[in-house]
Amino acid sequence: MTAIIPLFEARGIRKRFPGVIALDGVSAFVNRGEVLAVVGENGAGKSTLMKIMAGVYTLDEGTMLLDGRDISFRNVADALQAGICLIHQELNLAENLDVAANIFLGRERLWGGVFGWLDRRAMAREAASFLSRVGLSPDLVDVQVGQLAPGQKQLVEIARALSLDARLIIMDEPTSSLTSGETERLFEVIDDLRRSGVGIVYISHRLAEVKRVADRVTVLRDGRNAGELERAEVNHDSLVRLMVGRDLKQLQHRTRRLEAPKPLLEIRDLRYRGGPAQGISLTVGAGEIVGMAGLVGAGRTELAEAVFGIRPIVSGEILLNGKTLSIANPGQAVAAGLLLVPEDRRLHGLVLEESVGFNLSLPNLDRLSTRRIVSRSRERTMGLALIERLRIKTPGLGKEVGLLSGGNQQKVVFGKWLARSPSVLILDEPTRGVDVGARGEIYAIIDQLAAAGVGIWMISSDMEEFLGMSDRIVVLHEGKVAGELNHGEFSEEAVMRLATGVS
Ligand SMILES: Nc1ncnc2c1ncn2[C@@H]1O[C@H](COP(=O)(O)OP(=O)(O)OP(=O)(O)O)[C@@H](O)[C@H]1O
Ligand SMILES: [Mg+2]
Repeated sequence: MTAIIPLFEARGIRKRFPGVIALDGVSAFVNRGEVLAVVGENGAGKSTLMKIMAGVYTLDEGTMLLDGRDISFRNVADALQAGICLIHQELNLAENLDVAANIFLGRERLWGGVFGWLDRRAMAREAASFLSRVGLSPDLVDVQVGQLAPGQKQLVEIARALSLDARLIIMDEPTSSLTSGETERLFEVIDDLRRSGVGIVYISHRLAEVKRVADRVTVLRDGRNAGELERAEVNHDSLVRLMVGRDLKQLQHRTRRLEAPKPLLEIRDLRYRGGPAQGISLTVGAGEIVGMAGLVGAGRTELAEAVFGIRPIVSGEILLNGKTLSIANPGQAVAAGLLLVPEDRRLHGLVLEESVGFNLSLPNLDRLSTRRIVSRSRERTMGLALIERLRIKTPGLGKEVGLLSGGNQQKVVFGKWLARSPSVLILDEPTRGVDVGARGEIYAIIDQLAAAGVGIWMISSDMEEFLGMSDRIVVLHEGKVAGELNHGEFSEEAVMRLATGVS
């Protein structure tokens, strides 16, 4: 029997960044028509490996082979030329251009040679055929990308990869902002690509998805290979054991549920600028975890931002402990005892060019200071304790936070608010991109806060998360409350029915 030559192979890859060895001799391969999942804790080196494969970073040591032959990339264009295409988690589309223009960005078809006009008809025709291959309607060719749902954007990126004749498509956490319907659609497209012989590398922290889609799994731990699993061996426990290096109980879910909590935060008939015409009402009780579900674009983040003073309120009332609040900016919200941990860490959650220590202590300066002088030793003790508690992977407090891996940045956002004791904590997608180990830790912390009487309003797109953690679930649809479910009524179907507006 002759050995199969993999489509792509990486051997002994090393990559060092200041203060960290991100990859310390990692090897991996992908066959034609195979989906290789790459999993590992936050900071394990997944994204770095993918960026090396796609020409974003150069490697320090190691070799890469395509069809069994040595290759090296100086840049992304070299990798694309070889048929390797990376779809970043923060998608790379131009929001203000239409779909066809995005698919052909940088290689526009010209009519009558180099000095000719853009051949829009030819581009639209070709773009339409790629759209149908990923299951999107060809009518979308002239729709602005900014108008599309996240799932559609993801599929447009794949259409673009196909138009580039990609033989290897790398997807880095493609489903972290997709709804379950959109995720299922993406899986169908992946199945299709697999049948046509394309190799796929798939990174995700959602282990159920990995089980669904992977033919084989490579596990990374601390920049090294921790092991490999064939399809039949893949399950939650085997994955976690290799990732974390020890057994981990299934995610701890909440058992303590309150009967009728005392209302803490009450939102009455609230309308905010740019929101729906109809007012929104919502109550969060003391010690209660209210999960807020809805499709992407249902207006969950916007509502939270309005309550937190980021979006101007048009009418309605917000009460805390029965007293009316007037909140015109986030500073007033914090002073009143409301905290928001935002969804988009890169925009609102962190000062990216500052250190981990700076970011962790920023909201806590008052309690770290005596007469306005910040105690460096208290700051350090608090910072190190948070790093330990949330398993933040960083060489130290001094590391620039923007250089941490995606999930570790999320942990810093969460950690910086932990030292405060709010009355109401609004969490917007608290575990997006966070690995299983830290996720369990975050759930335990949320549970403790609730037990101490904090009202928790948790916006989440992760079905398992809000079904497991909530005492009550409120579902938004097109900016309005579509319905509420009490604990006994929880089910995936019930949530989906409300979220999609099916009555
Ligand atoms: N540009 C960079 N400069 C400095 N350090 C970096 C850079 N990119 C990554 N690192 C470091 O390399 C290590 C691996 O990061 P990487 O982003 O590959 O992790 P990951 O496995 O993708 O994690 P996550 O699941 O959180 O996305 C981390 O310690 C990270 O801080
Ligand atoms: Mg990553």
